[in-house]
Amino acid sequence: MVGEPSPKPVPMLDLKRQYQGLREELVDALGRVLDTQQFILGEQVAAFERAAGEQLGVAHALGCSSGTDALWLALAGAGVGRGAGVVTAPFSFFASVSSIIRAGARPALADIDPTTFNLSADAVEAVLNGARGRSVKAILPVHLYGQCANWTALAKLGRNRGLVLVEDAAQAWGAEWEGTKAGALGDAAAFSFYPTKNLSAAGDAGMVSTNRDDVAGHVKSLRQHGMRQRYHHDELGWNARMDGFQGAVLSVKLRHIGTWNEARRGLAARYHTLFAKAGLAEAGPYPTRGVVLPREITGARHVWHQYTIRVARRNALREFLTVRGIGSEIYYPIPLHMQQALRDLDYREGDFPEAERAAREVLALPIFPELREDEQETVVTAIAEFLS
Ligand SMILES: Cc1ncc(COP(=O)(O)O)c(C=O)c1O
Repeated sequence: MVGEPSPKPVPMLDLKRQYQGLREELVDALGRVLDTQQFILGEQVAAFERAAGEQLGVAHALGCSSGTDALWLALAGAGVGRGAGVVTAPFSFFASVSSIIRAGARPALADIDPTTFNLSADAVEAVLNGARGRSVKAILPVHLYGQCANWTALAKLGRNRGLVLVEDAAQAWGAEWEGTKAGALGDAAAFSFYPTKNLSAAGDAGMVSTNRDDVAGHVKSLRQHGMRQRYHHDELGWNARMDGFQGAVLSVKLRHIGTWNEARRGLAARYHTLFAKAGLAEAGPYPTRGVVLPREITGARHVWHQYTIRVARRNALREFLTVRGIGSEIYYPIPLHMQQALRDLDYREGDFPEAERAAREVLALPIFPELREDEQETVVTAIAEFLS
């Protein structure tokens, strides 16, 4: 079923709307970097790190070059390297797994929970008790779409076995688990400030957070070529520094992120209501004729980086929306164990049925703080038309 182009297109994300209200603040902040001529780390990055650490309630926040580098820094900084197994989810962005390999460790995948799309603690336990479990030294839960993985269950598993816990909080700035912010839950955490994220830079940037002084010291060294003292290289690090312009932009946006995340929560609640009113909402976890809505689970404070529904005829729906000028995205169409680049991990199709099914059924709908009510109505009306 392919319809007419919509008279009212709805973008998946429109960063210009956010920029319009921030232009002056941002230009001033960028000007300060030019005035100091501190382009790498420097005052603006240090100021961002202080404010970010305070907001998350962590002892250390360390700016770096990207979320991908933040994952590698967090793992390596926490001593997870050669010979270590790291349990993570096959349903995530590629970097969740590639950063483990980059750290010299070996990914051990565990399936996801079909309701939250996050790592299932039961599946992790099964991996820990299985053949690949013997070498496991760390768990890397991903807080996918802006909702924390079930930290109570995962931390219990980790603590009982003396494992390191590293959060992939790339999509979860401001999210909480039982009142503690994502980024303050594990031994270390990685954030991405890629421009589409809830808290976003004007280019590539990332951050590691940790309450452990030893990890912070190690990360600082690793992000500057393993250098604690100028031109004395104690170990192999890399250039993974944050640049001054990104620190300046992020300091400005950090002041607004609370309001933006609240706006996202309001938008998610409105989508829930609109789908329910249209009679489309199904209990799930799997869709039949309607739409399974994303859920905030007990213990979590969701920040709705994505509003991801499940539908049976996902690809046809996406095409239908695209023809009407309505944005949508598939995060992620191919589970990581089925990626060509990761074939050496020795997994095959069928190994993670929940991840594989999610990859066929998920569709992320437009959600960003400036999205309008009428635009949400356009999205839901179009989906209702498709499903009728
Ligand atoms: C879950 C997850 N992990 C890691 C990353 C990597 O972050 P970056 O793109 O900043 O390198 C991203 C973002 O793209 C992500 O969504």
